[in-house]
Amino acid sequence: MNGPPVRNMLNAILDHQTTSVVMVDEDLRVQYLNPAAEFLLAASFERARGERLGALLRDSDAFIGELSGALRRSQGYTRRQLKLVTAAQHQRLTVDLTVTPLSDWEAPALLLELLPLDQVLRVHRETQQQRVQETTRELVRGLAHEIKNPLGGLRGAAQLLDRALAAPELSEYTQIIIEEADRLRSLVDRMLGPNKTPQAQPTNIHRLLERARQLTQAEHGEGLRFLRDYDPSLPELSCDPDQLMQALLNIVQNAAEALEHTERPTITLRTRALRQASIGQQRHRLVLRIDIFDNGPGVPAALSDQLFYPMVSGRAEGTGLGLSIAQTIVGRHGGIIECDSHPGDTRFTLSLPLEQPHDG
Ligand SMILES: Nc1ncnc2c1ncn2[C@@H]1O[C@H](COP(=O)(O)OP(=O)(O)OP(=O)(O)O)[C@@H](O)[C@H]1O
Ligand SMILES: [Mg+2]
Repeated sequence: MNGPPVRNMLNAILDHQTTSVVMVDEDLRVQYLNPAAEFLLAASFERARGERLGALLRDSDAFIGELSGALRRSQGYTRRQLKLVTAAQHQRLTVDLTVTPLSDWEAPALLLELLPLDQVLRVHRETQQQRVQETTRELVRGLAHEIKNPLGGLRGAAQLLDRALAAPELSEYTQIIIEEADRLRSLVDRMLGPNKTPQAQPTNIHRLLERARQLTQAEHGEGLRFLRDYDPSLPELSCDPDQLMQALLNIVQNAAEALEHTERPTITLRTRALRQASIGQQRHRLVLRIDIFDNGPGVPAALSDQLFYPMVSGRAEGTGLGLSIAQTIVGRHGGIIECDSHPGDTRFTLSLPLEQPHDG
């Protein structure tokens, strides 16, 4: 038969599978991870090879016990909605698991297939979120238009009045009108987000993250600790660097502000490239993922559903625009921002396509 050798074909299939495939030997040491499993467990095959599977997960005694039992009895099983936490990045996972003993392999071994359910839930959530974003944006645009027009008239009239005033001391009041009109105008402009269409150019995302880190560090002092976990092999991202910088800075600064009363305040910046990942309902060959973690108190529960709406703030001095602007910018680049927040562990995740979207 012609065509590629079966072995290459099998590799290609395993490489592109969205189900995570793990093989462990009789000591439950990792023998194989496909790329989906590497991503799911936040571990590279190269490093995890020969490691105990238990070491890749937190609080996994019960799960490991079940696997040992399956191995001993040489009997497979399935678990629905199994909850796991990765050791590397404390990622909470919900998976459907199928365990199969490899009876015809040279030595006792188990094949694990993990289907991440979070992804299914995520797609649903993201699609909904994108819809809400669009509605909000429409609303803000309409409102801004309605405010800006009369505001222009108001300001113009105050200027005319100012010039016609007989008593100069009264101009203090016309000045107030003019200044307040200007303040309102700039508020509305900020609500609308950047008004330029993004000027895309190949951009090193780490350069932007480093800049955001330096600016935030300068503002909040050396007490604020930054950890960096960058994937050095990331390709450049085609984006508007100024706008994306703004989005990153808004998120990093929120984290810094949230950490004001935290002991050992720490922000972690992490980058990864994901193969075959989806943003909303769109699948992409390659997706850039940026995680910004902080160990602060977490997003106030009352805000969590409206976090990305404009004018939603939990801070006395906040305008509540930072995240809404960031979401608009990332949305214009075909991406999305999500938040997963627990006390002591808050994560904002940006997902951006590194390649043109394609179907399938
Ligand atoms: N990392 C975080 N930890 C805890 N709460 C957060 C975090 N990031 C955002 N928040 C909450 O979300 C709210 C909205 O954030 P957003 O950046 O949109 O507005 P803001 O920071 O209040 O004002 P500004 O317009 O100045 O950015 C914040 O006020 C804060 O309550
Ligand atoms: Mg903010």
